Formats: sequence, structure tokens, C-alpha cells
Amino acid sequence: MTAAEAKRAAPGVAVRVQGARRVFRARGEPDVVAVDGVDLGAAPGEFVAILGPSGCGKSTLLRMIAGLDRADAGTIAVGEGDARDTALAYVFQDAHLLPWRTVEDNVALPLELRGRDAATRRDAARRAIEQVGLGDAARRHPAQLSGGMRMRASLARALVTEPRLLLLDEPFAALDEITRQDLDDQLRALWRATGMTVLFVTHSIAEATFLAERAIVLTRRPARVVLEHAIDLPAERDAALRGDARFAAETRALYAALARGNASAAA
Ligand SMILES: Nc1ncnc2c1ncn2[C@@H]1O[C@H](COP(=O)(O)OP(=O)(O)OP(=O)(O)O)[C@@H](O)[C@H]1O
Ligand SMILES: [Mg+2]
Repeated sequence: MTAAEAKRAAPGVAVRVQGARRVFRARGEPDVVAVDGVDLGAAPGEFVAILGPSGCGKSTLLRMIAGLDRADAGTIAVGEGDARDTALAYVFQDAHLLPWRTVEDNVALPLELRGRDAATRRDAARRAIEQVGLGDAARRHPAQLSGGMRMRASLARALVTEPRLLLLDEPFAALDEITRQDLDDQLRALWRATGMTVLFVTHSIAEATFLAERAIVLTRRPARVVLEHAIDLPAERDAALRGDARFAAETRALYAALARGNASAAA
């Protein structure tokens, strides 16, 4: 399939979060308002980065969008309906691979769960493994992989279903800087080739700037949006861009907003 065909086959869906609220209650403990009154969204096919202080509710927000957790109030729309009706994939910070399965069998797992036949699973898994640059390691087991390779396998497992929405929660945070930049390059290229919508949670301003078309900065808990910033950089982004003056200029607004959001939850 060419990049243009892939784009037509699985165009990205819109995401719209309005007034989202999530409160965690445990007996004998004070309620934790993790998310309160958050409005944000993504246009079909947009790449949006979400930044915010540790513990501010980013993972909770992403889990609610994925339908893995419920909102106590507000509305969350994904595509025409909600998460249940949409082909979406979720990438966690840990690769979460099954240790007894090879890379190929790990990547094929979502298709197995959907009842696809063996030949379809194998072809799709091999394609996804190639897409993330892991072709030589398809028959290896997770214990034989580096951290970066495990994350590539995890990304391939997300891509194998050709998601219309890809949600990533600090997926590359534990990797060394060079490996991380390599994966960022690859993810950006995959996004451009497929046209899927991407929501990417990160603590890294540089990573958000490199990857996204728009960055959303959240305050301390309960998370509120303190800034929405369109990233004015060319669509074609390569390693050299990270040292460019335009890149530094784009990060400045994000640093300032993150500092504001950290200082005050009532922004
Ligand atoms: N299942 C849960 N039960 C109780 N409290 C929870 C639960 N999940 C999250 N919380 C609390 O909700 C708040 C937001 O957590 P969340 O994991 O969404 O933050 P985060 O922004 O993803 O943090 P980090 O940047 O450290 O990953 C935290 O105070 C956390 O302790
Ligand atoms: Mg988190």
C-alpha cells in the first residue's frame, strides 16, 4: 500500500473533550480530583502533544479518551461516536510485551484477539515490524531486545490494527536521548504516511515541539488547559531542525506556559 492509499484507507478521527472531570474516591481518604473542566481536542489527522506537571492528570485524561476509564462529568467524543466505535491504539510507557512470544507474535496479538486468520496476521505483523525498523528482530523474544527495540515492538503492535487514533502516554521517556530522537523521527514519519490522529503525552518540551502540530499545556492537578500552541515548523522535520533557531523559538512559549501551570492550578 502506498502512503496515499494508507491515508485514504484509515483517515484520522476527530477527538473532542468537553468539561471532562474525574474524581478518584477511596474509603477513608480524601477525594482526588484528577481532572476537572478540561476542554481540548484534535482535528482529524492532527498530531497533538499534551504537556503538564507530574501527577496533573494526563494519563487519566488519555485513559478516558481511550474508554479505559470513565468520566464523572463532561463529554468525550471520538470520531462519530466514542472510543468503543473507533479503531484506536494505546501505547504505554512500558512496552508490556509477552515474554514467551516472539516480536512477531506479540505484534500480531491484537489481530489474534480480533479473530483474523493466520496469514493475515503474519502479513500485517511483518509490515508493522518493518515500519518501525525492527525487521531483523522479528523472531527474537523480548528479553533479547534493548529498551528501544522493545518500544519499537510496542509501537508496531499499536500500528498493526491501522488505528484511526493513536494515543501514546510518555512512550519513550525511559530511553536514552539518541534512541528517543530516533523513535520520534520514525513516529513523525509514520504519522505523515498514515494520516491517523495522534495524541502524545510527554514531559519533554523538545519532543512535543519536534513531533506535534499543536501542543496543549496543562496546569497542576486538577489539570486545566493553560496554553494551546500551534507549532509553526515545516512539515518535513529532521534531526537538524532540533538545533535550529526556529525550533528554540517554538519551545519558549511552552516553557513559559509550563512554568505558569506549575505555579498555579487556577490559571
Ligand atoms: N486509579 C486511581 N485511583 C486513585 N487515584 C488515582 C488513580 N489514577 C490516578 N490517580 C491520581 O490522579 C492524579 C492524576 O494521575 P495521572 O496518572 O493521571 O497523572 P499524570 O499527569 O499522568 O502523572 P505523570 O506525569 O506522573 O504520569 C494523581 O494524583 C494520581 O495519584
Ligand atoms: Mg502519567
